[in-house]
Amino acid sequence: MNTKIIPYGKQNITQEDIDVVIEALQSDYLTQGPKIKEFEEQFANYVGSKYAVAVANGTAALHLCTLALGVKEGDKVITTPITFAASANCVRYCGGEVVFSDIDPATYLLDINKVEELLQASPKGTYKGIIPVDFAGRAVDLEAFRKLADEYNLWIIEDACHAPGGYFEDSKSNIQKCGNGIYADLAIFSFHPVKHIACGEGGMITTNDQTLYNKLLALRTHGITKNEMEYSNSIGFACGQETATQQYPGWYMEMQTLGFNYRLTDFQAALGTSQLQRADKGLKKRKTIASNYYNAFNNLPFIKGQSGEVAGHAYHLYIIEVENRLGLYNYLRENNIFAQIHYIPCHLMPYYKQFGWDEGDFPISESFYKGCISLPMYPTFTDDEQLLVINKIISFYNG
Ligand SMILES: Cc1ncc(COP(=O)(O)O)c(C=O)c1O
Repeated sequence: MNTKIIPYGKQNITQEDIDVVIEALQSDYLTQGPKIKEFEEQFANYVGSKYAVAVANGTAALHLCTLALGVKEGDKVITTPITFAASANCVRYCGGEVVFSDIDPATYLLDINKVEELLQASPKGTYKGIIPVDFAGRAVDLEAFRKLADEYNLWIIEDACHAPGGYFEDSKSNIQKCGNGIYADLAIFSFHPVKHIACGEGGMITTNDQTLYNKLLALRTHGITKNEMEYSNSIGFACGQETATQQYPGWYMEMQTLGFNYRLTDFQAALGTSQLQRADKGLKKRKTIASNYYNAFNNLPFIKGQSGEVAGHAYHLYIIEVENRLGLYNYLRENNIFAQIHYIPCHLMPYYKQFGWDEGDFPISESFYKGCISLPMYPTFTDDEQLLVINKIISFYNG
């Protein structure tokens, strides 16, 4: 038996990563220094957006987005049940109401037809926004969602935590990269260790909207501005004397809105920037792994569905749908292969059940949950390890 545990996802830290982190630790700035701007600029360039705002984690990124978009008590926002809870929770942080809508069984993504039915069933203005998720790394067709959103005057937050480097092809066959800000108002990413780019904890918001960008910058740091053009108090007040000097003193700043400390540290940003240099290489390896799984499992009767070979898929996860999922999960664990389940449908979490959601509400999501299992997928996963995983799965079913 293989003695080494094979996880479903894993970070890859190189000597180069370690060197840049040490350099950042030895610099004058542990936080709020130059590494943040560098990471933001390079990340915006990578996804093709105008602006990027680095934050403490993906959840903070989502929270800042709902704050910047002005979500308030009772605002209804649509999202998928097949996601990590944070995609929904950000609406609740602002007192909004989460409205789940079922997935498409072929893509595992929010089904746009179901969203349209939901929108048509209520007067315009009932809903405020949509949070589609590039689940497992498969890019949502945001062009189609934008069209629908415009009809109903909705904003879009793309949860692209699983999909840096992913893309979809629009109706003119142009490649639209996840987080490029063309169709979504805002997009968010996470740099948790199992993600494509690891900072330990970390997140990024991307956008092409300058007003939202400025709001996000302030909200990330307590709602404080140091931009003189935005001050509302007088120079006299700022100087602490009625006969004021001609300019605001160096210490002066204003807290103009209620924000948070959601900043990333400089040494995390240094790690993120270093990881970003290898993002394309990692993505290429993920695609090879996906292709190997696809070819090994294609047409096997016990595989009811799989992520498949999809152009633009960023393959954060490789999911298969199987019979006797519990048996397979335990068998793989006995063999030191730690597959995972993504996700327990969000609407069936006890927290969301208290709002009235229950079993049977989303048959496609629930049926997906009963059979889904995420197989090992990360750039340092070797060919031999993959062969072992594939053979173990086949031998579990074929005996
Ligand atoms: C789809 C999705 N959204 C949001 C998050 C939240 O990101 P973080 O863990 O960095 O807060 C995650 C992270 O697991 C995620 O997978």
